[in-house]
Amino acid sequence: MFAENVLAGRVVVVTGGGTGLGRAMALHFARYGAKVGIIGRRTEPLEATVADMTAAGAVAAWASADVRDPESVHTAFDALESKLGPLDTLINNAAGNFLSPTEDLSPNAFNAVIDIVLRGTFHCTQDFGRRVIADEARRGVVLNITTTYAWMGSPFVLPSACAKAGVHAMTKSLAVEWATYGMRFVDVAPGPFPTEGASSRLAVPGMDQLGKDQNPTGRFGKPEELASLATYLISDQASYINGATVPIDGGEWLLAGQSFGLLARMDRDNLKQMMTAMRPKK
Ligand code: HXC
Ligand code: NAP
Repeated sequence: MFAENVLAGRVVVVTGGGTGLGRAMALHFARYGAKVGIIGRRTEPLEATVADMTAAGAVAAWASADVRDPESVHTAFDALESKLGPLDTLINNAAGNFLSPTEDLSPNAFNAVIDIVLRGTFHCTQDFGRRVIADEARRGVVLNITTTYAWMGSPFVLPSACAKAGVHAMTKSLAVEWATYGMRFVDVAPGPFPTEGASSRLAVPGMDQLGKDQNPTGRFGKPEELASLATYLISDQASYINGATVPIDGGEWLLAGQSFGLLARMDRDNLKQMMTAMRPKK
């Protein structure tokens, strides 16, 4: 559905862009004409992703950075700008997460996730925003990757739920505060998209089938589906979308809150027969 050049002239930085959903978005943005910079802590996945983008004819660069450290973010953004030109789009995708009963969390464990997801998103957003504000000609887009439990809450991932809720608030707050500087903010809230990073930390045996059963579509998301949505939202085609959150979860979060939602996943003929049998006899 996209014109080949829909992101031509754009310079996008993706945090956590060497793996999983960040990598899928980076490749998609490059495919549609953007110059793409990626950051993360480990150099290997960054190098490999940039190699894949450049092999496909795109202009791309990486810089190693830890989003928990504002100096490290600043230095990395400088390095990317020297190679790609002024950044105009930031994708806050880097995250940390793990499953734990809340009563067993150490203070350091809570902080580990908050520092990456909430503080890290703040450091990247503030550094990026200052660059746009300092340059009157520059416009900016910030896309935050949150999750549906940012507003639903979720057991066993409490630090992540709190941090993502904070990021959600950041999107809405800055959509208003920084619109005057030509910036807009959007939030994509994925449901389950199996990736190595997420599955290795969050999947328990048997959860796959349960996860599919509690999804109206009966399946998980595909990274390209999220990358397409992100491409649209950062493109100029979406220039009047500001402060919005777009769930991409097959409708999972709705089903969880709908008392009779699970019935929609049962065999429809059987269900109709049962409902017919329950009708009052005439
Ligand atoms: C309890 C844990 C823990 C676990 C670590 N800790 N893992 N506590 N259960 N599984 C505790 C440690 O004991 C330590 O506390 C503290 O957390 C910090 O641990 P470190 O290993 O030193 O942290 P660090 O090296 O900073 O690594 C951060 C991390 C790690 C979050 C723990 O997993 C990471 O680097 N993750 C990055 C990638 C990632 O998580 N991807 C998944 C995103 S998926 P003490 O007290 O012992 O010092 C996602 C999906 C959301 O977000 C939605 C799904 C539907
Ligand atoms: P992932 O592959 O583990 O991605 C996380 C990325 O963040 C990694 O590339 C990691 O690289 C980077 N990162 C972590 N800590 C960092 C730090 N301190 N500084 C810089 N980079 C850091 O997991 P994913 O599934 O693709 O998740 C991507 C995003 O989607 C996250 O925001 C996640 O919360 C969200 N999400 C995922 C799902 C899902 O089902 N997969 C669902 C909802 C939301 P390094 O470790 O090398 O730094």
